[in-house]
Amino acid sequence: MDTVRLGIVGVGGMGSDHARRIQAAQVPRCELAAVCDLNPERCQAFPAVRAFASSAELIRSGLVDAVLVATPHYGHTTIGIDALQNGLHVLVEKPISVHKADAERLIAAHSDPTRVFAAMFNQRTDPSYRKIKQLLEAGELGSVRRTNWIITNWFRTEAYYRSGGWRATWEGEGGGVLLNQCPHNLDLFQWICGMPSAITAVGALGKYHDIEVEDEMTAIYEYPGGATGVFVATTGEAPGTNRLEICGDRGKLVFEDGKLRFTRNEVPADVFCRTSTEGFARPSVWNVEIPVSGGGEQHNGILKNFVAAILDGAPLIAPAEEGIRSVELANAMLYSALTGKRVELPLDSAAYAAHLRHLVETSTHVKATDGTASLTLKNSF
Ligand SMILES: NC(=O)c1ccc[n+]([C@@H]2O[C@H](COP(=O)([O-])OP(=O)(O)OC[C@H]3O[C@@H](n4cnc5c(N)ncnc54)[C@H](O)[C@@H]3O)[C@@H](O)[C@H]2O)c1
Repeated sequence: MDTVRLGIVGVGGMGSDHARRIQAAQVPRCELAAVCDLNPERCQAFPAVRAFASSAELIRSGLVDAVLVATPHYGHTTIGIDALQNGLHVLVEKPISVHKADAERLIAAHSDPTRVFAAMFNQRTDPSYRKIKQLLEAGELGSVRRTNWIITNWFRTEAYYRSGGWRATWEGEGGGVLLNQCPHNLDLFQWICGMPSAITAVGALGKYHDIEVEDEMTAIYEYPGGATGVFVATTGEAPGTNRLEICGDRGKLVFEDGKLRFTRNEVPADVFCRTSTEGFARPSVWNVEIPVSGGGEQHNGILKNFVAAILDGAPLIAPAEEGIRSVELANAMLYSALTGKRVELPLDSAAYAAHLRHLVETSTHVKATDGTASLTLKNSF
């Protein structure tokens, strides 16, 4: 095999964007072989390829080697399992599932190691985040004491939420800012800094929008080694902030406004603290601006890597199995915020699934939907 025949399930905003880039030959050795959408009009945008009204038919058509699942979130689990069980390679959009129990089922369906199973965590291709990860792994910061990600520039309008009936509902999406906008940040945060062992969060449902799910969340992380962290996210703030700050004994990294700055202690803070004879002294620092350019290949980078993993056995940038972590973080934050309790990880997946089911079953919110909202994905990532 020298070309991957790809089928895309769900050709709405994101799926059609992927399809157009593949048709424009931006992903070598990948052919768009079929599309599928419950809404037939969506498939009409791709007249040159076979269209299916059901994912089950596409998966069993014999026309594709791999599928990209770009439906609303709950479908990632069911369609992903069906595709894996039918011997296809699978690339699933973020989040891999709505809740941890679904993610466990999805991952369990990946029983054949010859099948490639990846997740669309396109921000892992961003050179800045790759550099931060590399600096931490090289020990440049020493032992990490504190992490902080303020990611409040995911501003969304009421028109955005009205644009799809599934959006921002417990039944259709399973959450709000944590499930839709933040999977990238939650993934990167754990990819770079590791998983916390406990989370305490305060959040608000429909604070800035006419929605029933969370549009604001502030979470405190406790890491196994004693470090602490804070994660702040909302879709209600403008202009908003995107600032990642990581502090270790040997200095501080700040990534904000596209700039990566490293303030390095000449003497590690813990050593200086113990050895200085002056009460108000502090370590001298070097200010280092670390050059990083561009945003990386993003979605095309993940698609190219998926194809290379299938055809050449290349290692994945974002194995789908790792996608359970951002799902677990989102679930734990919501669980803590809604129950008022500190949540220890690993999260009890069955307990959270039951909690979410209760939210779905007791929902009384009437979702406003209209077809007039214009959605361009240009600013969505
Ligand atoms: N990686 C990124 O940067 C990024 C950006 C935006 C959205 N996304 C993700 O992409 C996914 C889709 O989001 P969107 O904004 O394109 O939503 P959308 O509503 O625009 O599109 C979803 C499409 O899926 C179709 N669909 C629903 N259920 C289906 C099923 N069972 N079988 C076939 N088709 C089905 C709908 O008819 C619709 O056309 C979500 O998981 C979202 O989180 C990822």
